[in-house]
Amino acid sequence: MTSFHETRAVERTNGLRGHPATILAIGTANPPNVMYQSDYPDYHFRTTNNDHLTDLKAKFKRICEKSKIRKRHFYITEEILKENPHISDNNASSVKTRQALLANEIPKLGKEAAEEAIKEWGKSKSMITHLIFGTNSDFDVPGADFWLAKLLGLQPTVKRFILRQGACHACSTILRIAKDIAENNRGARVLVICSESTAISFHAPSETHLVSLALFGDGAGAMIVGTDPEEPSERPLFQLVSAGQTTLPDSEHAIQARLSEIGMTIYLSPDVPKIIANNIETSLNESFDHIGISDWNSIFWVAHPGGPAILDKVEAKLELETSKLSSSRHILSEYGNMWGASVIFVMDEMRKRSLKEGKATTGEGSEWGVLVAFGPGITIETIVLRSIPITY
Ligand SMILES: CC(C)(COP(=O)(O)OP(=O)(O)OC[C@H]1O[C@@H](n2cnc3c(N)ncnc32)[C@H](O)[C@@H]1OP(=O)(O)O)[C@@H](O)C(=O)NCCC(=O)NCCS
Repeated sequence: MTSFHETRAVERTNGLRGHPATILAIGTANPPNVMYQSDYPDYHFRTTNNDHLTDLKAKFKRICEKSKIRKRHFYITEEILKENPHISDNNASSVKTRQALLANEIPKLGKEAAEEAIKEWGKSKSMITHLIFGTNSDFDVPGADFWLAKLLGLQPTVKRFILRQGACHACSTILRIAKDIAENNRGARVLVICSESTAISFHAPSETHLVSLALFGDGAGAMIVGTDPEEPSERPLFQLVSAGQTTLPDSEHAIQARLSEIGMTIYLSPDVPKIIANNIETSLNESFDHIGISDWNSIFWVAHPGGPAILDKVEAKLELETSKLSSSRHILSEYGNMWGASVIFVMDEMRKRSLKEGKATTGEGSEWGVLVAFGPGITIETIVLRSIPITY
């Protein structure tokens, strides 16, 4: 394995800047409405008036049992469904209602996560120079980035960017952009947010979208990103060393989300876990070649908890120790797949657990790590992370 100084030399040779972007704080938020997975099949079929579909319900129960999810948080409550019955009618137009609900909920949830991150950062929000917002659940203009800036009272000079429909890999995409902004604008402090709600994709049960109904949940994650932390008042958590994206050939059929009058419908092929597991090592090699790492058990893992079968197959293919994906499995269990926000929760879990367990670094004692996310394409995104020694 090459030393840090050798790595920096390679990065400089490749034209990379000498001051890597660093995550300086993390915050998360979820709607208060909690649904236990063991109760969900009965709840879902009852509230959508589909209890008579007994075979479909039995299959949904099997999928929920296999999901390795204990609970999820949802903005949509039984009261909202009663007030808006067309949301659970797969033949009725509901996109306008969903949009109206989400126009408030997405920035509100993002604000809660951002406030937690800003509190941990400990600096004035007037020092935030850029805002990057990722969501699959907002369509209006001005969008969730505008409303969040207003709700938080950010400076009117804050430079905003919103990524819509970035899918499950939205967070790694916007972190890649945040890294470039932070490294190319001296003193920049970038607020990065992913805020997601299944209110856009909630439907009455049907054979085609049972899996997405069983896996997805609502949540928002926020991070402050910048270079050259002013220690000790700013406390770095993870360095963003490099970022990569690979599109897997001939796999565009495997993950699809379509927006229509009935909201967003999500199709997930049963082949998704196998396709990802068969290709992940190539992406890892591309990302870690320049550091000289090829032992995937020597790094820490911030993996998108897309579904239990993806984590299982990746773990088996790379012969990972069971501890490596335990932060991802914990977030899957407690919140489900929250699209782009999920990896922020995983990173938050990892650094808190590392501190609690007395590990030497924010990455469970390892120096190098990877954030890996998957989405339509199929796209695999990787960010090479470097942990920070825990000294407090
Ligand atoms: C869905 C999932 C939780 C099921 O767990 P599992 O351990 O694979 O369990 P099984 O193979 O026994 O499948 C349970 C049932 O779900 C069905 N199923 C599994 N994957 C499916 C899919 N993608 N679409 C439709 N049905 C699916 C199986 O056919 C089976 O049906 P049956 O009980 O009628 O035979 C798991 O396959 C998974 O995590 N899939 C990945 C989800 C995904 O693509 N996420 C991407 C988001 S980025």
